Amino acid sequence: MVNANSERVERWIPGSRVKNARPGMTGLDHLTPHRSVAPTTQRSMLISNKSKNREAFMNPPSSPPAAAQSASAAPFDYSAVFARDLPAPAAKWNGFSKYHFVGGNNDPELVPVDRLLAASNAVIAREGKNLATYNLLTGPQGYKPLREFLVGKLKRDAGMVCSADDIMITSGSLQGLDLVNNVFLQPGDTVLIEQDCYEGSIKRLTKRGVTAIGLPVDDDGLRTDALANALKDLKARGVRPKYIYTIPTVQNPTATIMSEARRRELLALSEEYGVPVFEDDCYADLIWDGKRPPALYAMSKTNGVVYIGSFSKSVAPALRVGYIVAPWEVMSRILSMKTDAGSGALEQMVLAEFCPDHFYDHVPRLNRGLRKKCEALMEALAEQFGTAAEFDDPKGGIFLWVKLPDNVDTLKLYQAALKAGVAINPGVEWSVNAPHAKSRLRICFASPSVEQIRDGIAVLADVCRKEFGVPERSANMEKRV
Ligand SMILES: Cc1ncc(COP(=O)(O)O)c(C=O)c1O
Repeated sequence: MVNANSERVERWIPGSRVKNARPGMTGLDHLTPHRSVAPTTQRSMLISNKSKNREAFMNPPSSPPAAAQSASAAPFDYSAVFARDLPAPAAKWNGFSKYHFVGGNNDPELVPVDRLLAASNAVIAREGKNLATYNLLTGPQGYKPLREFLVGKLKRDAGMVCSADDIMITSGSLQGLDLVNNVFLQPGDTVLIEQDCYEGSIKRLTKRGVTAIGLPVDDDGLRTDALANALKDLKARGVRPKYIYTIPTVQNPTATIMSEARRRELLALSEEYGVPVFEDDCYADLIWDGKRPPALYAMSKTNGVVYIGSFSKSVAPALRVGYIVAPWEVMSRILSMKTDAGSGALEQMVLAEFCPDHFYDHVPRLNRGLRKKCEALMEALAEQFGTAAEFDDPKGGIFLWVKLPDNVDTLKLYQAALKAGVAINPGVEWSVNAPHAKSRLRICFASPSVEQIRDGIAVLADVCRKEFGVPERSANMEKRV
């Protein structure tokens, strides 16, 4: 019976009973309620909500309400209500280029699919019921077994001594970057970074109105003589930088590994000037021979380092699992900023199940595969560009940072190459020193196949020759004979 005072509702009310339901109708298909109702049923379906002691209607959406019918057909004008200072709208994704050398993607053939599948089955069978609870009953810092694995891993690989309480699992280390930045930065602040640097970090600083001072890098990593000068200069001007951000272990994009001596110098300067270090160790697992210096976090005697890491490069980026390690004074602040009710639980559970038995077999296998692709890229560049392409043979990672002759503007090369189906990262987007980066580009060798690397670099060389006259064909002919 329809009660004139009944409340009309658009959705199924949990706990309510549906009248006129056919046998087998669960009442749970609340996205398509009208399909469950017999055609003879009156337009509004009576439902009762005992808990609230009232009756309510569900409207079959076959005909819109009168108000909606009379409304203008002009599209809604959102521009009037958007927040101020939004970034430019994003373009729709149109798929990858034929030769895709951009981004930090991994090798699809080296994702340990079978083992992830087995881990997934095992952990869901055992602990799936815990998915009913935000944070899986192990608190807002993330799934405890994964944090416990990390305690052992970080000790073994990076010399870090920490407990599960010092670790927070994040949705990729990008969320770690955001959270750490939230805690430290305000518009107008200054930070020190490597001049050629991860685009995601540079963009985040720009967006916050933070000044990023770029420091040069050599074979031993960030140059501490330049850091000392910058700190001195800033102090003289009354500026205390908020942090020194560094990717010391397989730097992005240069792939340098900071020596232990440099790490000591950097920490000494950080302590002298009271400027903490923000260590991004995203690529630290990808070193061909597996040997790395201790993390800055491990070497600091004063708790002066905040550390972020990731499973994106060592297992798979689409999992979106990263982590922060920080002293409690900082962690407790970060914790109050992480208001997303927890990072994705399934991927944390799967990794925690996969890692203890398989991480240390998987990573060397991954590195062997990546090294082969790195060699394929270096050979293709040597063959196609001859001496016009300069680069260092990296000790690990997934990128080559390539210098082309000075007359090549890689932003223009990027645009022309894209039309020919080759995507590259132009240097200026990966640096805070535009003149230095103008003729440089970053090439990711992890995700394309060896064949795509060879063919794509040949197309890139052709485009570069047409646009900038380099490489000269004769140089390559010489190389081939
Ligand atoms: C240096 C650096 N830090 C952080 C990230 C973010 O990685 P993720 O959010 O996938 O962990 C990347 C991604 O490429 C990176 O290169």
